[in-house]
Amino acid sequence: MKGLILSGGKGTRLRPLTYTQAKQLIPVANKPVLVRVIETMHDAGIADIGIVVGDTHADIERALGNGSPWGVNLTYIPQASPDGLAHAVKISQDFLGDDRFVMFLGDNVIQGGIATLIDDFSRSEWNSQIVLKEVDNPQSYGVAVLRPDGSIEQLIEKPKNPPSNLALVGIYMFDPHIFEAVHAIKPSARGEYEITDAIQWMIDHHYRVFPHVHGGWWVDTGKALDMLEANSLVLEELKPTIATDAIIENSQIDRRVTVESGARIINSVVRGPTIIGKETVIENSYVGPFTSIYHHVTVLNAEVERSIILEHSSVLNIGVRIQDTLIGRYATVQRSDDKPRAMKMNLGDHSTVWIL
Ligand code: G1P
Repeated sequence: MKGLILSGGKGTRLRPLTYTQAKQLIPVANKPVLVRVIETMHDAGIADIGIVVGDTHADIERALGNGSPWGVNLTYIPQASPDGLAHAVKISQDFLGDDRFVMFLGDNVIQGGIATLIDDFSRSEWNSQIVLKEVDNPQSYGVAVLRPDGSIEQLIEKPKNPPSNLALVGIYMFDPHIFEAVHAIKPSARGEYEITDAIQWMIDHHYRVFPHVHGGWWVDTGKALDMLEANSLVLEELKPTIATDAIIENSQIDRRVTVESGARIINSVVRGPTIIGKETVIENSYVGPFTSIYHHVTVLNAEVERSIILEHSSVLNIGVRIQDTLIGRYATVQRSDDKPRAMKMNLGDHSTVWIL
């Protein structure tokens, strides 16, 4: 079985971070979401993986190379414009050939992996298996209606009046009959070739499409709040480790804290689940639960909780606690004692600041 990861898109809802970085490369618990997707596939025994890439392809290729660090073989498939998930399947036909495959959206994080799903699908004679999850806001997703035998009767993309609360999670398994479907369908009202329409085409042509209803958590990391949510969920499952070369002096570190190589924690309190990245310095500070601080960050005389701070940034001498915050790369948040006393900001386009 092959794998197909969709990693195009502009990530507009994650601006300003996505002006300079592919959204799939933003880390949760100090590991890019896309790397988590690759590891999930590898754990399910899939080594031959195609990645559909768009405008951010150079960034993604630089980060992942040929996939060998993760024990997989990556093939990049450029998509000239973001014309939809079914279009991505269409342009991947040469790569996929006659194999069955699993398609995974590169910005999704799912609890528990996909090994069982892949196993079920490979033993079955189904033409497609899709993953569903009960959600509170089905109108934001593709929504499924099931038949009494458990197979899929209907799929509707982002319905105003959802007929069920079963949303399509961004994981789909197909046999080669999907290619008949992606060639037959027309673009939707939003101008995209929708994978839901392609699957509906298979159903209408009597192919067998069955669901797996996922019981664990699942996050589509489209917005900053989703990133923080995914970060919290992944941190809760992380097995804590403290690197042997990390320096911890005069600090309280609880047992759910991971400290990576070369990090220094001095005169500080760190409460888990939390991860402190490589070569990062935490000094005279408090780092609270559900925080991921990436590599080469400095947190000095500050308090941070339930936040993500990316590499090479600094949080210095802040009198209030920073919480529910996403800070990009090479950013500085610092106290100013200059007169007149005022908030001074140098913000990127599409940034948001909440002032106390
Ligand atoms: C896509 C699919 C939708 C699915 C969702 C899962 O939506 O079209 O059916 O529920 O991914 O994340 P999009 O993110 O393209 O709006």
